[in-house]
Amino acid sequence: MPNNLDNLIKKAAKALKRANYAITFTGAGISVESGIPPFRGPTGLWSKYSPTILDLYHFKDFPEESWPTIKEIFYDYWETAKPNPAHYGLAELETKGIIKEIITQNIDNLHQKAGSKRVHEFHGTLKTLTCMECYHNFKYDPILLKKLPASCPDCHGLLKPNFVFFSEAIPEQAKISSIEAIVKVDLILVIGTLGEVMPACQLPYLAKKTNNATIIEINIEESNFTRKITDIFLKGKAGEILPKILNFI
Ligand code: APR
Repeated sequence: MPNNLDNLIKKAAKALKRANYAITFTGAGISVESGIPPFRGPTGLWSKYSPTILDLYHFKDFPEESWPTIKEIFYDYWETAKPNPAHYGLAELETKGIIKEIITQNIDNLHQKAGSKRVHEFHGTLKTLTCMECYHNFKYDPILLKKLPASCPDCHGLLKPNFVFFSEAIPEQAKISSIEAIVKVDLILVIGTLGEVMPACQLPYLAKKTNNATIIEINIEESNFTRKITDIFLKGKAGEILPKILNFI
């Protein structure tokens, strides 16, 4: 006997198949089953570390304090993390032409590792670093983090990972591509985000306001979106629900 969640999953799959321009908006929750902790909640990074370490001015003034923690909470996890069935499910939906693009708040590159092609990294990436003196860019290599704070191989200036720190602007290209996507959508699949952090969390509201887009949300618990704009709420783990949606596609 199908339970309510099964019926909702079927309804979500139908809406996805019918959509003209469906995209996905993801947060840390989609990578939890890949062993990467979320930011908030009892198991979140911010329950153990102060977000100050990711404030741009604090980083510039106290790099010897910020860098060891950045390595511990991001690069050490990232090196071994693998995509999970939710990431692969989205890549498959892209291949089937059902999901057109992904806007992610994540910096872990797991969407791309799973095969997704059109990914907008709204909060930047761990993949590259930039020197804050000579602005040379470097692809991530563990050697760069052997001695902390990480310094530029060319000028010994301070190296900064290319993800967005608090008090830092959203990368221009990612912002433009994301808004270009949002104005086209009639459906957004919102996965694993609390919807707390601005300006990223405004994107689903913008889609609802400008196009009356259908919002399908997957989360283990309600987020800030659920009672405001979500049309179909699928309560559960992304890595378990995405494969079930694919069964009906
Ligand atoms: N499947 C689906 N959702 C999950 C899962 C899971 N397996 N595990 C946790 N979640 C949900 C949580 O219930 C929560 O709503 O994922 C969400 C994670 O929320 P946050 O930790 O706040 O992460 P996110 O919304 O991505 O944070 C946004 O904040 O600190 C900054 O720059 C950082 O990009 C990040 C931004």
